[in-house]
Amino acid sequence: MTSNVTIVDHPLVQHKLTLMRRREASTAEFRKLLREIGLFLGYEALRDLQLGKINIETPVCATEAPVLAGKKLTFISVLRAGDGLLGPMLDLVPSARVGQIGLARDEKTLQPTKYFFKVPKGLAERTTVVLDPMLATGNSAVRAIEEIKAVGAKDIRFVCLLAAPEGIETFTKAHPDVPVVTASIDEKLNEKSYIVPGLGDAGDRLFGTKGV
Ligand code: URA
Repeated sequence: MTSNVTIVDHPLVQHKLTLMRRREASTAEFRKLLREIGLFLGYEALRDLQLGKINIETPVCATEAPVLAGKKLTFISVLRAGDGLLGPMLDLVPSARVGQIGLARDEKTLQPTKYFFKVPKGLAERTTVVLDPMLATGNSAVRAIEEIKAVGAKDIRFVCLLAAPEGIETFTKAHPDVPVVTASIDEKLNEKSYIVPGLGDAGDRLFGTKGV
């Protein structure tokens, strides 16, 4: 395993992930569980944030206490399932700026093409966390990071719920400088590029759009 990939193996995360994977989990359950796990993933992805000290008074005494003092944060969701991780990330850092990238697969080249791109200015001075629950082939994630590097982002992390070994390999080869945080590296991709055992289509499960 490459050292740039962190698997959040907390028992509660693994338990909740199992609940989410189940075919019978409702849209409401799936959403809630993604939010809960997203908090853990977010804490892990931001583990190295810099701290400074401020003086405060508790009811007991004056003291010096740690507060965030590093670069400002930007969260970028890869549409549309990435939006399911935005809520928990914003719970952790309500002041973060938010961007969104829309990528669709070109049926001729099978490569992702960009149909939406709106990110805050000044990414070069900020820490950017890119969010996409499923790292499957890795092609969209690689492209998303290329796009945000092209507008100056340097300090980047990638957060996903599940990854396939194929996606991890493609991603870490293309962007060895970008740490990946995930709850699981599953077995493989199937012939339709779904993660196995996976959880199906994350966007459909999150938004209740299966068969629509
Ligand atoms: N995207 C999904 O939503 N699910 C997969 O299994 C792979 C890609």
